Amino acid sequence: MSRILITSALPYINGIKHLGNLVGSMLPADVYARFKRAQGENVLFICATDEHGTPAELAAREAGQTVEQYCEEQHEIQKKAGAEFGLSFDHFGRSSGPENERFTQHFAWALEDKGLIEERTDKQIYSIDDQRFLPDRYVEGTCPNCGYEKARGDQCDNCGTLLDPTELKNPYSAISGSKNLEVRETKHLYLLQSKLQQRIADWVAAKEGWPSLTKAIANKWIKEGLQDRSITRDLYWGVPVEKNGVPRPGFETKVFYVWFDAPIEYIGATEEWANAGAGRDWRQWWRLDAGAEDVTYVQFMGKDNVAFHTVSFPCTILGSEEPWKLVDTLKSLNWLTWYGGKFSTSQKRGIFMDQALELLPADYWRWYLMANAPESDDTSFTLEHFASVVNKDLADVLGNFVNRITRFCASKFGEAVPEGGAYGETEEKLIAELDGKIRAYTEYLEAMEFRKAFAELRGIWVAGNEYLQVAAPWTAFKTDPERAAAAVRAGLNLIALFAALSAPVVPHTAEKMFAVFGLDAKEAGAWPKSAKAALAFLKAGHKLTLPDVLFKKIEDEQVAEWREKFGAPAE
Ligand code: 2FM
Ligand code: ZN
Repeated sequence: MSRILITSALPYINGIKHLGNLVGSMLPADVYARFKRAQGENVLFICATDEHGTPAELAAREAGQTVEQYCEEQHEIQKKAGAEFGLSFDHFGRSSGPENERFTQHFAWALEDKGLIEERTDKQIYSIDDQRFLPDRYVEGTCPNCGYEKARGDQCDNCGTLLDPTELKNPYSAISGSKNLEVRETKHLYLLQSKLQQRIADWVAAKEGWPSLTKAIANKWIKEGLQDRSITRDLYWGVPVEKNGVPRPGFETKVFYVWFDAPIEYIGATEEWANAGAGRDWRQWWRLDAGAEDVTYVQFMGKDNVAFHTVSFPCTILGSEEPWKLVDTLKSLNWLTWYGGKFSTSQKRGIFMDQALELLPADYWRWYLMANAPESDDTSFTLEHFASVVNKDLADVLGNFVNRITRFCASKFGEAVPEGGAYGETEEKLIAELDGKIRAYTEYLEAMEFRKAFAELRGIWVAGNEYLQVAAPWTAFKTDPERAAAAVRAGLNLIALFAALSAPVVPHTAEKMFAVFGLDAKEAGAWPKSAKAALAFLKAGHKLTLPDVLFKKIEDEQVAEWREKFGAPAE
């Protein structure tokens, strides 16, 4: 059994996440974690809310709450939505916790000991009316790159360019709207990433197996040359710039930059997990001197996060010269778009996790999002496409299969797996076909090529339906009931096999499918090794309970109603 550490990019605390965020990191990470657990691996799946920085302060201000209250409340909301979506985190932590504070300060001073931290005086925007500096998102204005008028100080939402607040044209305060701004000097800590250029380049070059999107983004940053970066901000909310509880002189009103502390929370949240249960040791997962060299570490994130995980965070880790575990595989995804445009948290555009669950159970979304994951390119979400995929794949193919064979069995043989003849040529053919498809499906999941994986899974469900068409137990029953019984036995076993194979992506449905046979998903859900063994799993006499319809079709009227509700643009 190998140990696999899986982290999903940490969702910002500023409001519940939309479907684009979900498919960008948390959901694929969950699918992979479930797959690896089913294979019997020892998985630790960690996530947390990313609570510091200007997004949190601004959102709290808008909500009329203190930032502490706001984060507390929003963390619980996101935790609940994640649980309802079946995100099987071993721990969902908080970057504002004491563990992350300790690790963040530890890394800063370890880097300073290695000569990689320097105090520099910066010029930053100061709002005279607000009587404060306006770092990052506290200042908005016109993007120097694309002319978008509501670009934020750290990044333009329209064209994605990373910005320095002083680069914005016509800047104004995001707090008061005031344009009464001036540039003032302020002191900050800089991480001298330029000194780590070669080490990062060598480290990335050695990652031959990284997905092409990840590698391309990392190489672009390396080629441009690593820049020293400021790791502190003039803000109230964040990890204080302290050593052993004593503020660094001149930094009493400053905190570490959110992008410095956020990835460190992967470690912080692992310690939170360890502190929450007996016999757990975070060091075994993170410290090479405590056994972590046996760990395979896989990260999931949207493409905008890749630079921070292939350059910035590795600079923190490698620069410390301490024996920390670094990422082995980094799966990055493109954007899911809302009818070709942007999903947007700030503009509340698109469908958000809580709203999605008000419309339909989690598995409908999970299937659609993963089967259409934005892997090779950005992918457009439309309600029309969503409805058509759900109706075809889930209702017509998987749901119909389960419904048809269980009901036929109950009506002709009673509510138990029937006795009957041995499997014949038709079943042998099915077994050979399934073995090939299961192998391909497993390989795609291993490679985290989710679209291809779920196309294979769909093919497996289709093969089951085709088998039933050919074996036609309803016809055979009239002339050869033994043959019909064998086909029904195979069909029922296929339900259990499909449940095990489908559980990573539609876990709630898989539970219902196992429940037909009174099986517990955890016990019965081991990753199938051979179709032959799977088809011999349920023996004659095994009781079954008729399931409710697994998936309801989405009607055109529902699509029309949801289009209206979410303001979907014309296709
Ligand atoms: O882009 C984001 O949503 C960030 N909150 C991701 C942080 S990932 C990690 F570094 F914490
Ligand atoms: Zn722009």
